[in-house]
Order: sequence, then structure tokens, then C-alpha cells
Amino acid sequence: MDAQNNDAVIVPLSEPLLERSAGVLNAAVGDAVAGGDESGSLACHVDEQWLDDLADALSEQAWLGVDLTARLPEGLLAALLNEVTILDKTDAMNRAGIGRGADLVKDRSVRRDKIAWLEGCSEPQALLFSFLEQLKAGLNQRLFLGLKRFEAHYATYQSGDFYKRHVDSFRGRASRVISLVLYLNDDWGLEDGGELQVFSSHDESRPVGLVRPESGRAVLFLSEEVPHEVLQARRTRYSVACWFRQDEVPLPL
Ligand code: OGA
Ligand code: MN
Repeated sequence: MDAQNNDAVIVPLSEPLLERSAGVLNAAVGDAVAGGDESGSLACHVDEQWLDDLADALSEQAWLGVDLTARLPEGLLAALLNEVTILDKTDAMNRAGIGRGADLVKDRSVRRDKIAWLEGCSEPQALLFSFLEQLKAGLNQRLFLGLKRFEAHYATYQSGDFYKRHVDSFRGRASRVISLVLYLNDDWGLEDGGELQVFSSHDESRPVGLVRPESGRAVLFLSEEVPHEVLQARRTRYSVACWFRQDEVPLPL
């Protein structure tokens, strides 16, 4: 499956679930979510103060770790985990590359994860997109970045996989501006490895943070500025990586 020359941006979820009710989401999630006020449980909790704090942290230190559990609709983390687990099991995820289009290189010494792009068509994806839309608007109001859109993919790292130190966008390209990685793993212990190591934006050899990829945790950073690395995982590691971009149409990274 990974032997094909496949610079694929795959969209494996075909069911349009947008109009489904909270009940369906809850059913998909199992019994993790109780009934009750449906509109409330699907709401994102993005308030002005929180956005102020995010914007301050990004402009002051270029990166931050944050727990999104209480900011996302109830059950969403479990629903996303459910989706990515199914995609992974059904071989719907592709070996990730470096670069894009004709420049895509699959170098396993640099990066070993598998990815599947999100389209926002399933209910969990639509809910996540609505959250990302609110974040984009809030950050634009505060940081004047002119973020036009975002893109997001699931990523799976099997035990042994890693992603060596890199930045997410070439300087001056103004394509990817802010990166957000949301983790989906329950009970991630120290022995499971797979931390995100964040390096100083002034000195790429100086580690400044280590983020355990525990469910609900997220990291945000300036895509061009902050070098980072995924340390070798010792257990399957699931996440969603998102990028807010300044370009209207896809340009090379
Ligand atoms: C990436 C990346 C970090 C992570 O996909 O570019 O750096 O913690 N991901 O998964
Ligand atoms: Mn990265």
C-alpha cells in the first residue's frame, strides 16, 4: 500500500453526515456521552479571553501547549479517535511525504507517519472544522495574520515511527502560518514515547518544550519559526495536524 507512487491527498470518508443529530454522534462515540441538551453538547467553547491568551502566547513565545478538552464539543475527541482508528485499520491512510505535488519525497529516515486529509464531511470533522474556523477568525482579529483557510490531516505513528526536527513552512512563503496539532491518545504514559519536542525559534538546537500526545492536548506554534520533532513512539499514536494558511489556493509549502 505504501509502495505506490502516491502523493495522495485522500478523502476516505464519503458519508455526508452534516445534518445528523447529536444523538448519532453520541451513538458513534459509544456511551461516553450522556444525552441532554444537544445544541449545548455540540458547541465549541471559544471565548474572547481564551483567544486573547492564545494570541498573546503565540506572539510572545511563538508556541504554546493547551488542553482543548473543555473547548471542544463533548465526545468529539473520542469520535475523531474512532474515525482515525478505522481509517488506519482499513489501510485508508497513506505514507506521508515531505513537500507536496511533484516535489513530494517519501524519506523514511525523516518521517514515518501515515496521513489522511480531512474534508469536513463526517460529523466529527465538521465539528472540528467549525472549531478551527472560530480559531482562525479569533486569531485574525488579534494578530492580523490574514489567515484565509486551514487544512488538516490525521496522522498515525506506529510503534517505532518518528518525524525528525523540521519546520512546517519555508520562511517567506506565507503558506502555512500557524500549526496546530491535536492529540487523540488515551492514557499515554512516559514509556510510550512519541512526545513532541519543541525547539527554540532562535536556536534550533535548544529544546524548549516536550508535549505528551495525550487526548485533548494540543500545541500551537508559528509554522515558519518553530522547529519541532516527533520522538519515536512506542505505541500507536494518533493526532490531527492542522495548518492555518495565508494563501487562498494551495501553493507549495
Ligand atoms: C507535523 C508534525 C507533530 C506531532 O505533522 O508536521 O510536526 O506532534 N506533527 O504530531
Ligand atoms: Mn511539523
